[in-house]
Amino acid sequence: MSESIELRVNGQCHVLPVPGNANLLDVLRNRLGLKAARFGCGEGLCGACRVLVDGQPMPACDTPLWAVAGRSVTTVEGLGTPQKPHPIQKALIEEQAMQCGYCISGIMISAVALLQTNTHPSDADIRAALDDNLCRCGAHNRILRAVRRAAEELRAAEPHDA
Ligand code: FES
Ligand code: FES
Repeated sequence: MSESIELRVNGQCHVLPVPGNANLLDVLRNRLGLKAARFGCGEGLCGACRVLVDGQPMPACDTPLWAVAGRSVTTVEGLGTPQKPHPIQKALIEEQAMQCGYCISGIMISAVALLQTNTHPSDADIRAALDDNLCRCGAHNRILRAVRRAAEELRAAEPHDA
């Protein structure tokens, strides 16, 4: 018999039956239809499946569903909309930073995790934040430029002292 757990995904509450071995990535993709987080290595090593759990980036492939009971999960689908994209989504498009695009969801999640606490990241900060995200197309330089551009936009939107 499987139990149920409750979790919030992109602001929406879900009560889900939990087969003992279910992982978060499988549930997001195959039960909730949220396909942005991708399956890459399945071992927590490539970053393709990253999501935010209570604001922290985590590999969904390596996270059992029971571990996120009662927590708040954000996927790329929850970052912005086509009409109102998140600054990182806009910046990645403007810098044409995607080649195959397979890594990009995880990269957006890592970048958002960085930018939500640091809108003045140095290149070293950006590299450290993306260190666990593999991109085998070699789009790294354009991705770095996109994170810098998103940081600029976020800074411009910050309230300034008169
Ligand atoms: S698929 Fe999860 S880290 Fe690679
Ligand atoms: S754009 Fe292809 S893996 Fe990064």
